[in-house]
Amino acid sequence: MKKYNKKSYLGLIICLGILIFALAGCSSDSDDFVPWYAATGEEIGPLEDPPIHVHLTWEDDPLTSITIAWQTSHDTPTSTVEYSPSGSIEKLYAIGSAHTYDGASGVIHEVTIRGLEPSTRYYYRCGDQEGGWSGVDVFDTGVYPDQDFSFVVLGDSRSHDKEKRQVVEAIMAEDPLYLTPLFLLHSGDLINDGDHQEQWDQWFDTMDDLIRHSPLMPCLGNHEVILAGQLGLGLAPYYYEQFALPGIERWYSFDYGCVHFTILNSEERLFNLLPGTPQLNWLIEDLEKADGDPDILWKIVMFHRPPYSTGPHGDDTIIQRHWCPIFDEYHVDVAFNGHDHLYQRTYPIYDGKVTDTSESSYDNPTGTVYIVSAGAGAPLYQPDPNNFEKSKHLLANYEVDYHFCKVEVLPEEKTLHMEAKDRNGNPFDELWIYKDM
Ligand SMILES: [Fe+2]
Repeated sequence: MKKYNKKSYLGLIICLGILIFALAGCSSDSDDFVPWYAATGEEIGPLEDPPIHVHLTWEDDPLTSITIAWQTSHDTPTSTVEYSPSGSIEKLYAIGSAHTYDGASGVIHEVTIRGLEPSTRYYYRCGDQEGGWSGVDVFDTGVYPDQDFSFVVLGDSRSHDKEKRQVVEAIMAEDPLYLTPLFLLHSGDLINDGDHQEQWDQWFDTMDDLIRHSPLMPCLGNHEVILAGQLGLGLAPYYYEQFALPGIERWYSFDYGCVHFTILNSEERLFNLLPGTPQLNWLIEDLEKADGDPDILWKIVMFHRPPYSTGPHGDDTIIQRHWCPIFDEYHVDVAFNGHDHLYQRTYPIYDGKVTDTSESSYDNPTGTVYIVSAGAGAPLYQPDPNNFEKSKHLLANYEVDYHFCKVEVLPEEKTLHMEAKDRNGNPFDELWIYKDM
């Protein structure tokens, strides 16, 4: 009950803020956004039990779609999103579906809106007139291949809520007024016990200031997998029930601007790790297609278990042996991983060998830079002395701290720039990759 009161309070503040902003816009005859309910006097709806855990993903093309999901404590007549492009008072709406599952703490609603204008900010609220509305927030559609954009990578947010919140606040402090679109990649192990709904609820409570306006695209970690996961099946019902992801969801890809993102699953170890399995067949097809796409300048992959790691888990040698040659063949630029709770960045690696020992800046490098970013809340790990000794020649930098990685993509300059930042927002590592001009 306490959290509903908190959300009501925050919702009221946001609504009042937007109302004041809208009225200011009206009085000055500017073409600033005027929310439809401020313009029409429409009721905002009951706030005593509003939707919670509002979050964004993409089931479809980020350029023209958005997926909005939320939870209610009870069934509602519809699952509705009302939305409006910035600068418009036209109220549009989309209807989705609702479901629940064994162990759920409420009803999950999902709405995918398609046919949106690219590179456009929309205002939205979700819920239902009878069941109550969320506060108003924003989402942004994706950019064209020639436009700059930024995204953030974080990982292993399980266990320590205080540190997770510090990382979330540091990410939000990058752009406190949400002036620039941002989306997030999560490298897995969102929570500690995948079948404990109260941990999922706490995770959403801590994250939702951020993920209700910045889409978060995750990969599956071993902690999301329920007990049977020890068999290598990668079963994670709570994760799949709460995140609306593209295609079959277990692995997927999407294009954003000039980058192709391929999200893989390192937890289906029994049937989907080796050559000839469905995931690897799909991976080859996916990267081949991206390789032939003239709009794609960069290819980035993400999966939970690192093929190269100095942490206590060490290298995942199966992935190293069977996945990395595919990354080599199709020119994957950067791989993000989690699992070992530290930060590390390799030099560009091709065929298991370092191809460029520059400190942080690479001109048209051969090979892939492997980055472990696993410091968004889980207990930190020091490098394992044996693993460190074995792999130190691959390492460009490492740090043991809570952190996130912010990546800027600059297509005109054919440049990718990454900064690793601690939970106070202070950068401690940097990567520049330049392609042929
Ligand atoms: Fe893990």
